[in-house]
This record gives sequence, C-alpha cells and structure tokens, in this order.
Amino acid sequence: MTGAVAMDEEKINAARGALQEVKNGMCIGLGSGSTVREFIKLLAEKVKKEKLSVCCVTTSFDSRMLAIENGLWVTEPDAISEIDLAVDGADKVTKTALLKGGGGALTREKIIDYNAKKFIVIVDEGKVQKSLEGNVALEVLPFATPMVLKRLAKYKPKIRMAVKKLGPVVSDNGSFIIDMEMKVDDPKKTEQELKGIPGIIENGIFTKFDCIIVGKKDKWERL
Ligand code: A5P
Repeated sequence: MTGAVAMDEEKINAARGALQEVKNGMCIGLGSGSTVREFIKLLAEKVKKEKLSVCCVTTSFDSRMLAIENGLWVTEPDAISEIDLAVDGADKVTKTALLKGGGGALTREKIIDYNAKKFIVIVDEGKVQKSLEGNVALEVLPFATPMVLKRLAKYKPKIRMAVKKLGPVVSDNGSFIIDMEMKVDDPKKTEQELKGIPGIIENGIFTKFDCIIVGKKDKWERL
C-alpha cells in the first residue's frame, strides 16, 4: 500500500469518528481541507441514508461547493440561531493547541469553530506533536502587509504566492496570507499577541476546541 493511500484511510477514519457526533436537527459548521472533504462526503451519505434534517454553514468556497455538490443543505450564519457542532481539520496538533491555515481558510474557520457549541478537530496521525511547531499562517489586510512583515521580521514571514495565478494568494475574504515558521511555546499568549497587531485579521493558532479525533490506519482514537 502506498503512503498516500494509507493517509487517505487515516483521514477517512478521523472523519468517521466525528460523524458519530451528528444528530438529527443539527446545524453543522464545516471546516476546510482534505480531511474535512472526507467528512463532508460521509455526512452527505449519512444524511441521505438516515433521512436526517441537518443544515451546514461553511468556512470556505471549497467546502461550500463540495457540500452543495453532495446535496447537503448549506446556509449562511445570519440564517441560523446557533452552530451545534463544528468539524475541522488542522495542520499540526498538540493536546492543547492547533496550527491551521494551510488552506488559507483560517479566519472563517476560527469564526465558525469558536462559535460552535462543540468543536471537534479531525486529523491523521502524522499531525500529532508533543509541542507546537510549524507554519503559523496569518490572514492580513493587503494595505497592512508591509507593516506586518516588518513587525514580525524575526520569524522570516513570507507572503503566500499563488500557483495558478500571478501574484499573492487572495483569500475568500479578499486578503493576503502570510506564512512564518514558529515554535509556539505559549499558544494562548501568542494567539492573542498576533491578534493585537494592526492589520492582522486572524492567525492560525487555535486554542479553543472540545476534542481531537486522530485517524489511524484501521480505527480512530481521541487524543
Ligand atoms: C485550512 O485553512 C486549514 O486550516 C485546514 O483545516 C488544515 O490545513 C487541514 O487541512 P488538511 O486536512 O488538508 O490537512
């Protein structure tokens, strides 16, 4: 079996773990990324099979398009009273914090995830770390980008560049994404400090969630 296939199975198993939390009548926040894509497909199957009535709010055009394609009922935050459950992926996880933003959807993700009654993180085994270290993504107002780059220069920040478009990645909110490598010793403090820099709309350090489900080759477990 190839490594890629093994990882897909881990993602699917993590998604299966979160699926158990879905109940009829819920409003579900859909995160973004390849692991969430597996969750969306499984959720659509479950909704059809069990004839459930669930509505979804999404954190990216990517998740929105996939959810609609799979027949899920997608609505907007202003049309619902509350989000019962949010399910989202992550780039790196420890027991107490996450790094997110690999897909550039961090702002909408934090809005939906932090406002859900329950927020479940789904990851494959390779993302689990003892201490938080890796790429910290920032969503930044284009006007403020030079100032933010200067202020965080010690972390060697870089504007994320697009692949099939000239120039920088433009997020679903019309902003730029900055990436920087960091060892995050105090995630709560760093999350708030980054939040306090003018022009930074959001950062990819997440410190508020209810549980992490880790997908393995043939099962899932809570971290
Ligand atoms: C999107 O901006 C990210 O926060 C994703 O949730 C994260 O990168 C996980 O994506 P994968 O499931 O594709 O690894």
